[in-house]
Amino acid sequence: MNSIKIDLRSTASFVDAETLDAWRGKAVQALIKLESRKGEGNDFLGWIDLPAACTETVRDDLKNVAGKLSQGIELVVVIGIGGSYLGAKAVLDALSHSFNTLLPQRKHPLLLFAGQNISEDYHAELLEVLKNHSAACIVISKSGTTTEPAIAFRLIKQHFEEKYGKAGAKNRIVAITDAARGALRVLAGQEGYSTFVIPDDVGGRFSVFTPVGLLPIAVAGFDIDALIKGAADMAHYTAKKDCTNPAVQYAAVRNALYVQGRKIEVLVNYNPKLHYVTEWWKQLYGESEGKAHKGLFPAGVDFTSDLHSMGQYLQEGERHLFETVLSVAQEKHTLTIPHDEQNLDQLNFLAGKRLCECNKMAELGTLLAHVDGGVPNIHIEIPTLDEYHLGGLLYFFEKACGVSGYMLGVNPFDQPGVEAYKKNMFALLNKPGFEEQGEALRKRI
Ligand code: PA5
Repeated sequence: MNSIKIDLRSTASFVDAETLDAWRGKAVQALIKLESRKGEGNDFLGWIDLPAACTETVRDDLKNVAGKLSQGIELVVVIGIGGSYLGAKAVLDALSHSFNTLLPQRKHPLLLFAGQNISEDYHAELLEVLKNHSAACIVISKSGTTTEPAIAFRLIKQHFEEKYGKAGAKNRIVAITDAARGALRVLAGQEGYSTFVIPDDVGGRFSVFTPVGLLPIAVAGFDIDALIKGAADMAHYTAKKDCTNPAVQYAAVRNALYVQGRKIEVLVNYNPKLHYVTEWWKQLYGESEGKAHKGLFPAGVDFTSDLHSMGQYLQEGERHLFETVLSVAQEKHTLTIPHDEQNLDQLNFLAGKRLCECNKMAELGTLLAHVDGGVPNIHIEIPTLDEYHLGGLLYFFEKACGVSGYMLGVNPFDQPGVEAYKKNMFALLNKPGFEEQGEALRKRI
């Protein structure tokens, strides 16, 4: 059964049924273009078939390497940025105990991330922690030349070689990169690291179902079979060329709202475990659609926390946005609110109720208030936060993104704009070959 419920009732007063139907028709056409592999960026559509391509043999190989890498290891540093980071981080945060760093006994290593920024403090403090723990490293870069992870890897490699010796370091490092190109591939070959390949036809932000996402997820002890099964089932549902397809529904309504001047989509969650799913989604949609001076700006909020910071704006600020609420129907734990004899906070009417009931009423109350305040709301629900449903959710967002990007009239699978900052950074750091540009830039600072 399709594990995603998409409810558009709270957009009905903003987009009438006839208009929405027309957009659904356009979404189906975009889906046909995507699946026929004749649209722009069609050399980057390998992600569509990743769940089917991730066979039992592939998954067993990943589990074996994950098992070997974890033996006697307390910490695994995962180095990567953007699409080489956010998929694994999203799944791990969604599935992990909220306080896993404080749990006394862990069956699996704790995963820490590096190279997703170049903060000196962050990396110095990471090295400080690594001194007292047995560690391994997964270094991920498709191009193998991205500056941030390359800097982090220099630091980790040096630390490992000093601490474990060159041979010891080699056994603790797995590289995930292009099959043939890039500095990381060359280095991995020279040093004899175990490696996995990121397929040529899969872009970073669509790579969560390759070893980029799957190896860290397996190292953390999560069920990659179920994750892939969820994605495979969703691949089936989102291939349907009709309005029962949730990706068609979502792509249609967000484009319908966009042309009405709703330029910002705010992804809302009521479970802090979903914070990084939102970060992953922001990259997926921002990098895929933000081109040719077009595209919805993807923003995110964690409710109810952010109702106390962003709630005022969402209720009464400029009406250039809409919300997509991502709900999880069932939480894992049961916790009821206690009775209090004094009742100073006047909350005894809540005694005996579960927290999830309060959270649900906060969600429904906010939805009604925001719709009354002029904010259209799309509602997406998954039954529970587990590997299967998360796999389905991520695949759903990927498919809808491809469809939506084609509806917008952009190539959703390239990212030419990401290069501009890199060139300036290299010029300002005096990279050989960038001297003239560096001089020109310095005059402007
Ligand atoms: O989605 C993308 O293509 C980017 O976010 C890349 O994943 C990111 O820039 C990292 O690139 P690489 O994996 O080549 O180091």
